[in-house]
Amino acid sequence: MTIDNDDDLKHLKSIGRIVFETMLLMKKSLKPGISTAELDRIGAKNLARYGARSAPILMYDFPGHTCISINDEAAHGIPSGRKVEPGDVVNIDVSAELNGYFGDTGATFTVPPVDPRIEYLCQVTRKSLNAAMAAARAGAKVNQIGQAIEKTAINAGFTTIRDLGSHGIGRSLHEEPHFIQNFYDKSDTRTLSEGQVITIEPFLSTVADGTVTAEDGWALLTGDGNRSAQYEHTMVITRGKPLVLTAL
Ligand code: CO
Ligand code: CO
Repeated sequence: MTIDNDDDLKHLKSIGRIVFETMLLMKKSLKPGISTAELDRIGAKNLARYGARSAPILMYDFPGHTCISINDEAAHGIPSGRKVEPGDVVNIDVSAELNGYFGDTGATFTVPPVDPRIEYLCQVTRKSLNAAMAAARAGAKVNQIGQAIEKTAINAGFTTIRDLGSHGIGRSLHEEPHFIQNFYDKSDTRTLSEGQVITIEPFLSTVADGTVTAEDGWALLTGDGNRSAQYEHTMVITRGKPLVLTAL
């Protein structure tokens, strides 16, 4: 959506803060021994506290309030009895709706002991999000987002997952501009405009450049031994730096 009044901004900031707070709250309990279903319940409870509704359930009938993806799962991991183990790489992605507005945020966390290469992957993925945000301004081409992400990934020796990307958001979880690539797509001629609400969510990976759907029909797998990281913010495009909505 494109914001056209203060009310839009107020509602988007509100749901942005709620999903970000929920993600941080879940992260606080991320320790060996906790199950992903327990983490999901913590998230569900916090969303309910505000009357916010889980977007994955609302939009896709997803079997969980939040997505929790471990190790070779890049995204859309279903909360289950699976317990978090030392050394796991865990992505928590929270999206929700309140008053007809959507917010979407995600982050990847490591559970000690941490493999230094995976710590570096996380650091570079955060860097790629910052680089993409610096490129995302009114008048810029949409493909400059992917260009910034891909360049950061390649320079550090990592890959980008090409079938996952960023997206427009606001009145729905996924809306125009649909699918903003994580890599430079020369053929994408779309431009960003002032007031447009989008997510940026780079997915970087140790070796994989794509995913396959797991047997459960949801989790997106990158292959044995591969690890990936994702950081996601919802933001408003301006003439300068984007206004981040998923913040406290
Ligand atoms: Co998300
Ligand atoms: Co998203």
